[in-house]
Amino acid sequence: MTSSRKPQWIVPGGLILLSLVPVIAAFVRGAELASRPEVTPDNARFVTAPVPIMLHIVGSVLFAVLGALQFAPGLRRRRWHRYAGRLVLPSGIAVAVSGLWMTLTYALPPIEDSGLSVIRVFVSTGMLFCLVLGFVAVRRRDFMTHRAWMMRAYALALGAGTQAFTFAFWTVAVGEPGVLAYALLMLAAWLINLTVAEWFIRRGGEPRRRAGLSGPGRAGADVSGGAVPGPPAPRSTASRG
Ligand code: HEM
Repeated sequence: MTSSRKPQWIVPGGLILLSLVPVIAAFVRGAELASRPEVTPDNARFVTAPVPIMLHIVGSVLFAVLGALQFAPGLRRRRWHRYAGRLVLPSGIAVAVSGLWMTLTYALPPIEDSGLSVIRVFVSTGMLFCLVLGFVAVRRRDFMTHRAWMMRAYALALGAGTQAFTFAFWTVAVGEPGVLAYALLMLAAWLINLTVAEWFIRRGGEPRRRAGLSGPGRAGADVSGGAVPGPPAPRSTASRG
């Protein structure tokens, strides 16, 4: 691999690392549920209603890993990005819908309260909203808007990864979080991710905007400036996201 190619893998590699803790947790919980476990206070809600959690586990692992690869500029210039996107989008929808489903139907564990449930309703519906707008934008061949909404959706999903850090930081600095701190640490992770995503969106968009390459009608300009095959789209008033 040449040195100029190396940085291409920094973002996808970093995102996969960030998702490692929840992805491992997903495998552990999935394996436990597949082995018909004894019902305990910790797993009762998952064992008695396994459909949403299994949907969540499969969707989140696919979305976290394949979604990270969508950030690789080299893959974006190939058909991979398009084909993988057909799996990434439904996986993301599965994460958001199952997250909302569990929020609305599962009994709350002692460390969670209804304030966290309200936050989760906003996060899951917000993620769904971002995915739908990202899909609508790519159908219009408005790649800059597509990029922005998909990055926001991915940022919300990967709150699960950043939460490992906010919790680790709090536990080392303060100790075990209480109910309020638990909800605020989850919220902080989602806000951190959204802030970083907005920074990337603006940073990536500016040069192309100045160069007149953003928006529909410039089908060749994707997130990285990589070539996206296809004819220019008709004129549209789409926002940049
Ligand atoms: C790719 C990102 C995500 C991954 C890898 C992930 C992973 C997981 C895992 C492994 C569990 C089971 C936890 C356990 O065993 O105790 C879980 C539960 C859950 N997740 Fe996610 N998740 C992700 C994104 C989201 C999002 C965006 C939401 C939306 C709010 C969400 C909402 C939930 C809810 C409500 C539960 C059930 C919590 C409980 O009852 O303890 N997740 N997630």
